[in-house]
Amino acid sequence: MDKLIVHGGSTLEGSINISGSKNASLPILAAALLSEDDCIIRRVPDVSDTNYMIQILGALGADVERSSGTVRITCAKIADTAPYELVRRMRASICVMGPMLARLGRAVVSLPGGCVIGDRPVDLHLKGMEALGAKIEIEGGDITLTAKNGLKGTKINLAGTHGPTVLGTDNVMMAATLAEGTTVIEDAAAEPEVLDLANFLNAMGAKITGAGTRTITIEGVDALHGVEHTVIPDRIEAGTFMAAAALAGNDVTLKRVNREHLKAITAAIEESGHKIEFNKAGTQCTIHRGEQLSGVEIETSPYPGYPTDMQAQMTALLATTPGISVIKDTIFPQRFMHCAELKRMGADIKVDNGTAVVHGVKKLTAAPVMASDLRASAALVLAGLTAKGSTTISRLYHIDRGYEHIDEKLLMLGAEVERVRD
Ligand code: EPU
Repeated sequence: MDKLIVHGGSTLEGSINISGSKNASLPILAAALLSEDDCIIRRVPDVSDTNYMIQILGALGADVERSSGTVRITCAKIADTAPYELVRRMRASICVMGPMLARLGRAVVSLPGGCVIGDRPVDLHLKGMEALGAKIEIEGGDITLTAKNGLKGTKINLAGTHGPTVLGTDNVMMAATLAEGTTVIEDAAAEPEVLDLANFLNAMGAKITGAGTRTITIEGVDALHGVEHTVIPDRIEAGTFMAAAALAGNDVTLKRVNREHLKAITAAIEESGHKIEFNKAGTQCTIHRGEQLSGVEIETSPYPGYPTDMQAQMTALLATTPGISVIKDTIFPQRFMHCAELKRMGADIKVDNGTAVVHGVKKLTAAPVMASDLRASAALVLAGLTAKGSTTISRLYHIDRGYEHIDEKLLMLGAEVERVRD
């Protein structure tokens, strides 16, 4: 198992390219199951989650070729079963369910298991499929969905107790593309990744309007055709490097970003005293570390609110920002595993009931720490950048799930990091 050693104290400078979005790529790769034709998808990040998805598609019968960031997928014939061995490693594999059901009228998908960031049920996905006319049976850990006479368009409300569901919206939207009649999803997720998927589906011949808002309308079509598509930039990778630059940088520039998608993250980092300057097109930004810093209050919420996927990294930045910060995660109230590790590095954080109260300390000190999930590991890397000494982060596979070549990008910016094998 790989570990990352972060030697604290280097100043980051220079520029890097932000990769394509992991969370847009995953459902887009799954959407290729909806057509018999070739789909060519560009800027798919080389991370283990996209590799799992490609393996799942291959096991379902897809012919897949990957060359650097471009993936070509042909699903001439597909199987109707995605077994536990295939799907257990990644929760996002649930998004093969909608395309399989729409294309075949039957899908057997193993229920995803537990997750360290929270309970993560799939009831809303199933509610949507049922509303489209699927019969659902759960047995032996598998969900069997059948729609012998095809799916039928209808009105579906996908609101859950923690707000809308991103992959649930994706799943229902994909299933509805081939349903008979019109489907309206109310309280849909409005994340940019949902819009990117809708753009991909529309380019395949789907008729979707309203994606990127809370109401999505899908007019069913008979078949979808092949397509070429470029995935949007990863706003969470960009936000993570923004936080790294604010912590340890001297005018770091991030290229291939989308300013619109980064509004909430930019506002939070600027409120703590740093400055972020975008070029006119909003595709590039430079982060200037501030001198007068202060704590901030952040509450995660669905897009365009502050993303839960940037909660841990912001907590790491605020751990050494003077003053008191309050960080509440309303989407995944249990997603605070990184705090215990940050405390081992000297951070002053109290977590209670989905809220972290952070008293900024002057400096963290290096310690051996353990990554618990993807964003928590990113937070530990950030903390290590300015800590006194060398921080060793174990269970690095978590970070490799979603950050493309993070150690190489950090090295390019002048950080001192080493990947070592146990
Ligand atoms: N929820 C339900 N029922 C459901 C589905 C979700 O109650 O059927 C709840 C969840 O438990 C959670 C809330 O609704 O409290 C939102 O979860 P959502 O379904 O939106 O999460 P997701 O679609 O499974 C995606 C991202 C996550 C990100 C969340 C929230 C992908 C592949 N994953 O997950 O990304 O945290 O949306 O924005 O897009 C990450 O990249 O680190 C990551 C975990």
